[in-house]
Amino acid sequence: MENIIETWDITKKYDDFTAVDSVNLQVPRNSVYGVLGPNGAGKTTLISMLCTILHPSSGKAQVNGYDVVKNPTEVRKSIGIVFQSRALDDILTGREHLEMHAALYGVPKELRNQRIDDILELIALGKKADEYVKTYSGGMKRRLEIGRGLIHYPKVLFLDEPTLGLDPQTRESIWNYIENLNKNEDITVLMTTHYMEEADKLCDEVAIINSGQIITSDSPRNLKRKLKADTITLTVDDPEKFVENAKNLDFIKDIFVVDSEIKLMVEMGENLVTEVVEFASKIGVQIQSVELEHPNLEDVFIKYTGSRIQGEK
Ligand SMILES: Nc1ncnc2c1ncn2[C@@H]1O[C@H](COP(=O)(O)OP(=O)(O)OP(=O)(O)O)[C@@H](O)[C@H]1O
Ligand SMILES: [Mg+2]
Repeated sequence: MENIIETWDITKKYDDFTAVDSVNLQVPRNSVYGVLGPNGAGKTTLISMLCTILHPSSGKAQVNGYDVVKNPTEVRKSIGIVFQSRALDDILTGREHLEMHAALYGVPKELRNQRIDDILELIALGKKADEYVKTYSGGMKRRLEIGRGLIHYPKVLFLDEPTLGLDPQTRESIWNYIENLNKNEDITVLMTTHYMEEADKLCDEVAIINSGQIITSDSPRNLKRKLKADTITLTVDDPEKFVENAKNLDFIKDIFVVDSEIKLMVEMGENLVTEVVEFASKIGVQIQSVELEHPNLEDVFIKYTGSRIQGEK
């Protein structure tokens, strides 16, 4: 598949601090691509270079076939941007915001009204369009910002932390919206996030970034698979006896006892739950509960960095 965004060792230095360090990114056309990493990892810096807002210190990047340094105007025409810091004006209505942006981006006058109506429908804000933005909820504001980034029909939409600070329900509605957008329009979405769950749910591919470097990239599914680490969690009537005997089972890669629970690290857990249950009954230990968990992207991050992603700022 053709890549709509590609970078070659792109780097951003602030004096002797390297915020983005030789990043090679390949974003397939029409995908939802996630740049996932903790606070300060370099996510905003990376996409700022792709959006032509920041000049790379070295390396090269192309967006929609245009070099971000040599052809910034063409790049800008190809992209829409929704940035981390909020930028809406309370004393304008939703429609006025879209009108202003349409004018700013040179959408021809005779097309503007139709486009604005189309966008309002897409972001489900038709009914609120003529009310002041200060009466909007957080999720409505976010949708309006996204709509604004779409007014000139960009090929690539950059979303920097699209659901930062939103409540779980609103977050989910933004996810649905991004999914639909990507399904129904010819658009690639490049988003950053530090929410593992968000990247897992939405992204076709993710690049995990830490301290300015991409530490791994693939589909969330493959990243989790490569860990080869499912967890079978058990509670039993005699934990000591179980653990003592289970040490000899060769399919168990590791055993932890956490509080009153026994955690068995295995590969391909779905094939092993029955075996564990049978084994317990053979040694005369009674199982009270058993649960199988697959790894999540948090586990992937921990494996590659040895630390946890930080939560909300
Ligand atoms: N203008 C600047 N001058 C010096 N250092 C900077 C500048 N802008 C960013 N940095 C540093 O570069 C690093 C990456 O910042 P960046 O904003 O790209 O991180 P981020 O991954 O977007 O983080 P967050 O999740 O908090 O948004 C940080 O350590 C930050 O302090
Ligand atoms: Mg950021």
